[in-house]
Amino acid sequence: MKNIESKLTESRKYKPDAQFSSNANLNPKLLKELNSLYKKDPDKFWANLANKEIKWIKKFKSICTGDAPFYQWFKEGKLNISENCLDRHRGNNKNAIIHITENNQKKIISYDDLYLLVNNFSYSLKSIGLKKGDRVIIYMPTIPESIIAMQSCARLGLIHSVVFAGFSSESLKNRINDCSAKVVITVDSFMRNGKVIQAKAIVDEALMNENCPTIDQCIVYKNLGKKIIFNDRDLWWHEILSPKTEIVEPEVMSSEDSLFILYTSGSTGKPKGIIHSTAGYLLNCIITNKWVFDLKENDIFWCTADIGWITGHSYVVYGPLATGSTILIYDGAPTFPKPDRFWDIIENNKVTIFYTAPTAIRTLMKLGEDLPDKYDLSSLRLLGTVGEPINPKAWVWYQLKIGNKKCPIVDTWWQTETGANIIAPIPGVTLTTPGTCTKPLPGIEIGIIDDYGNNVDSINEGGNLVIKNPWPSMLRGIWGDKKRYLDTYWKKYNNKFYVTGDTARKDKDGNIWIMGRSDDVVNISGHRLGTMEIESAIVSHQYVAEAAVVSYKHDVKGEAIHAFVTLKNNFISYNNSDFSDDLREWVKKKIGSIAKPERISFSDALPKTRSGKIMRRLLRNIARGEDITGDTSTLENENILIQLKNIL
Ligand code: WT7
Repeated sequence: MKNIESKLTESRKYKPDAQFSSNANLNPKLLKELNSLYKKDPDKFWANLANKEIKWIKKFKSICTGDAPFYQWFKEGKLNISENCLDRHRGNNKNAIIHITENNQKKIISYDDLYLLVNNFSYSLKSIGLKKGDRVIIYMPTIPESIIAMQSCARLGLIHSVVFAGFSSESLKNRINDCSAKVVITVDSFMRNGKVIQAKAIVDEALMNENCPTIDQCIVYKNLGKKIIFNDRDLWWHEILSPKTEIVEPEVMSSEDSLFILYTSGSTGKPKGIIHSTAGYLLNCIITNKWVFDLKENDIFWCTADIGWITGHSYVVYGPLATGSTILIYDGAPTFPKPDRFWDIIENNKVTIFYTAPTAIRTLMKLGEDLPDKYDLSSLRLLGTVGEPINPKAWVWYQLKIGNKKCPIVDTWWQTETGANIIAPIPGVTLTTPGTCTKPLPGIEIGIIDDYGNNVDSINEGGNLVIKNPWPSMLRGIWGDKKRYLDTYWKKYNNKFYVTGDTARKDKDGNIWIMGRSDDVVNISGHRLGTMEIESAIVSHQYVAEAAVVSYKHDVKGEAIHAFVTLKNNFISYNNSDFSDDLREWVKKKIGSIAKPERISFSDALPKTRSGKIMRRLLRNIARGEDITGDTSTLENENILIQLKNIL
């Protein structure tokens, strides 16, 4: 552990704005009450919140039961999430969704209309024979219909799995087969960066040749109206809708019924299907939207995340709708047609809360630090970031240029597995410092622990970040792989702590600083990718013998990928840039654009131990331009290091 060292020394402190604080959902007194109730009586703490925030069909009797790490929350309770998101807010004459397309078409959907649209589509899904517990894949961009599809699944108790529409046909196929989905919902095509992306053609490729035997049907929403190939299994969304709007009673769901599966990368080649529950997930979504985003009914909340990621689930679709706010969704690229697109959308739609990723902030900064000056961003009252640590320079720019010094910034740490924010400032209360996600939220106990299970107590010393208590929105498992769930998250500390896979340190004020991952996972532009997954994509190319993937620091992406590759029989000479491009395209085809290596180097061999294990640690040193530190005595072929260094 001693090698986890911190080099950051940021200490600027930002006080909450007095006007913000006076209207905030939480104030120091309420926060103290919450924390002391949790300390005194955690069950009462969670029961109070669950009673207050969720509309139950039948009340729960127990709070957290089950043996570690198979916890169950609010077990006897009955509810339906779509009822919580939609039926609750009918008749208020309120907008639910403002949708803006890349071509600047705007559509507004009220809660009343959304209720009807979801009911009608639920009726269609029911009519084609889908039943509670069936899995449905949603492969769509972030448009109202993908939200309608998710909410309809929730209404019927179907388990949805949204696959980010930037993933390749092969990634889609693997996910469909992993969860044995019955139906895929997609669009004909959508626009990104001015180009037409043929989503339906990618689905066709995934389903081709009986590749996905469990799929019965593919529902296609006519989005751009582009020509598609229509197969026997295909159904048009508009053709399966009932001409008269049907109302479908929400399925009575148990608290612990699965709501969705969302795939995320881990340290093996195969993505993990993270399972989330109904009641517990909803509860943490609602309270964090209220506490961390200070969400109120008259807010216009724009979270720029795609619905294909957990952020899109918790802070676009479920949390804000359950809270009765208005969400803005933009189905396009941040820089299209110009790098000021975000600021333009905020001004035109009077967005009040804006949540995005550090990589987006850095990109937009680079394209024009003063571009926001042209826009009236005074509607904004709170800013958030997620996905990776935000560097202080970007934080300060965000606060000054976008937040006009008055908006609190919430740097939210969490994961696909945690379901909702875990460590984050309370706006209006917390003194913030650029680069730290500050302290755990009420109800969450975190620890920094060494490899032997001891608390790391010294200030600024790094260790493994763990969560010490169960919480309602924690993952319930990995689809079809109990052993991997235990091994990945619990085994290290004998089921006592949830292992996040991140390393972190605590400063003298008790603020948490995330330092990086402790496993073979990299974070590219705020998206998690397993290096093994990229390696297996590369080695599946017919010319490639071996590959090792590591990351290095990148100005805009946070981290970028460096792939070290050896070719079969020296197939192609070193540094053949055409072949590098072919290989990048290959990775794009296998996984998706986000996984394309920024740098590829070819060499005769890779550094290996005598037992044949690739020493990625050394490759990391090389990729990062660092001196090779640590032991190289187990290295079998020392000369290769010289060759690799010369290639760079
Ligand atoms: C990993 C989770 C949670 C939604 C987005 C990514 C990193 C996330 C922060 C932050 C530093 C962060 C961690 C975490 N991460 N938020 N505020 N500061 N690092 O979800 O794909 O499940 O990735 O993203 O490494 O473990 P994800």
